[in-house]
Amino acid sequence: MVGIVNDTQVVLRPARPEDSPQLASIAQEAYGKYLDLVDEPPAPTLLDYEDVASAGRTHVAVDAGEVVGMVTVEPSDPHLILRNLAVRPSCQGKGIGKRLVSLVENMAQVANLKGVRLWTRAEMSDNIAFYERLHYAITHSEQTAEANRVFFCKELG
Ligand SMILES: CC(C)(COP(=O)(O)OP(=O)(O)OC[C@H]1O[C@@H](n2cnc3c(N)ncnc32)[C@H](O)[C@@H]1OP(=O)(O)O)[C@@H](O)C(=O)NCCC(=O)NCCS
Repeated sequence: MVGIVNDTQVVLRPARPEDSPQLASIAQEAYGKYLDLVDEPPAPTLLDYEDVASAGRTHVAVDAGEVVGMVTVEPSDPHLILRNLAVRPSCQGKGIGKRLVSLVENMAQVANLKGVRLWTRAEMSDNIAFYERLHYAITHSEQTAEANRVFFCKELG
């Protein structure tokens, strides 16, 4: 895990086991808007957040002592995969998602990886606009019986 990022209010730090209830509720709230768009609950709403919080691959955003966002990474040489980025809806639009993505990019650079890869469901069109805004390029899409996914990559210099 790379270091803690801090500014006036929101602090980014590695997740701790005691964060798990807040992580579960962020997932339910943040992905809740997609329940009508996809056939089955989004995968992040089904995770065991005690496992997620203790696996050492998740960072959280904390605002005034409350966990308000999270992001998980998965190494996949030569890239870092960004998984499960979510911000509590009441805290969205304040730059927290962007900071969590920057943290992942920083982790990839520190690890001498080429860049960051991720994917999202095609139905989640908000995410496509969000990642394009952060200069992620669509590499391909993939339709399977389970899902239609759009894949992104950002190569880091
Ligand atoms: C995606 C998500 C994490 C974004 O978090 P956020 O904290 O609201 O995003 P930010 O405030 O940091 O926005 C960063 C930039 O993206 C832009 N942006 C945010 N949402 C956007 C959207 N739906 N469409 C286009 N641009 C968007 C912002 O305007 C901002 O642009 P700026 O840098 O010019 O100011 C949040 O909406 C979320 O939790 N969504 C539900 C869970 C989810 O689908 N996660 C992604 C899984 S792949």
